[in-house]
Amino acid sequence: MKKFWVVVLIVAVLALLALGGTAGHQMTTTDAFCSSCHAYEKASWDHGVHHSVGCLDCHTGGFVRDKTQGTRKVYLVFTGQVDPHHDRLASYPDITMSNCIGCHMTEEVAEKNPIYVERHSEYLVAAENCIACHEGGHVKEIRDKRYLAVRRGEQ
Ligand code: HEC
Ligand code: HEC
Ligand code: HEC
Ligand code: HEC
Repeated sequence: MKKFWVVVLIVAVLALLALGGTAGHQMTTTDAFCSSCHAYEKASWDHGVHHSVGCLDCHTGGFVRDKTQGTRKVYLVFTGQVDPHHDRLASYPDITMSNCIGCHMTEEVAEKNPIYVERHSEYLVAAENCIACHEGGHVKEIRDKRYLAVRRGEQ
C-alpha cells in the first residue's frame, strides 16, 4: 500500500508542476490518472457497458470545474483529509446526467429513434436522473465492494 501512495505522489507532483501546461492537462485527463485514486470505480467501469467511454466523458463539469476540483482533490488527499479508496465520496449525478444526455439524447438519436426519445422525456418527468433506472458507468455490485470493505474495517 505504501508503494502505491509513493507512485500517486510522484504522479500528482508532476501533474501539479505541469498544471496549466499541455502536457499536464493531457496527463491529468487520462483514465489511468483517475484510476490511481479510484480503483473500485475503475474495476466497476471495466466490467460495465461503458468501458469504451472515458472517465471524463461522463464526469466533466467543464474545464474550470474540472481543474479547480482536481487541484482541490490532490490537496485533500495529500493533507490526509480524504482517502479516496475508503471514504464515501460526494456525488453529483446532475453533472453526470448532462453528459449522458450529450451522447444519448442527440438530434441524431432523435431522428433514428424518435420513440425512445419521446418515452425518455416522459421518464425524466417521473425520475430525477438517468441513474434512477440505469446503472450508468459502474457495475453497482463491484462498486459497492469498497463500502462493504469499509464497513467490515478491511483494507
Ligand atoms: C489524487 C487522487 C485523485 C485523482 C488522481 C482523481 N481523484 Fe476523483 N476524487 C478524489 C477525492 C479525494 C475525491 C473527494 C473530493 C471531495 O471530497 O470533494 C474525489 C471525488 C471524485 C468524484 C465525486 C465528486 C465529484 O467531484 O464529482 C468523481 C466523479 C471523481 N472523483 C472522478 C475523478 C476523475 C474522472 C478523475 C480523473 C480525471 C479523478 N477523479 C482523479 C481523488 C482523486
Ligand atoms: C461519450 C458518450 C457516452 C456517454 C457520456 C454515456 N454513454 Fe451510455 N453508451 C455509450 C456507448 C458507446 C454505449 C455502448 C454502445 C451502445 O449500446 O450504444 C453506451 C451504452 C449505454 C446503455 C446500454 C444501451 C443498450 O442498448 O443496452 C445505456 C442504458 C446507457 N449507455 C446509459 C448511459 C447513462 C445513464 C449515461 C450517463 C451516466 C451514459 N450512458 C453516458 C456512450 C455514452
Ligand atoms: C424511469 C426510468 C428511466 C429513466 C429515468 C431513464 N431511462 Fe433509459 N431506458 C429505460 C427503459 C425502460 C429502457 C428500455 C425501453 C425504452 O427504450 O423505453 C431504456 C433504454 C435506454 C437506452 C437504450 C436505448 C436503445 O434502444 O438502444 C439508453 C441508451 C438509455 N435508456 C439512456 C438513458 C439516459 C441517458 C437517461 C437519462 C437522460 C435515461 N435513459 C433515463 C428507463 C429509463
Ligand atoms: C458512462 C458514464 C460513466 C463513466 C464512463 C464513468 N463513470 Fe464514474 N460515475 C458515473 C455515475 C452515473 C456515477 C454516480 C453519480 C455521480 O456521482 O456522478 C458515478 C460515480 C463515480 C464516482 C463517485 C464516488 C462514488 O464512488 O460513488 C467516482 C469517484 C467515479 N464515478 C469515478 C470514475 C472513474 C475513475 C471512471 C473511469 C475509470 C469513471 N468514473 C467512469 C458514470 C460514469
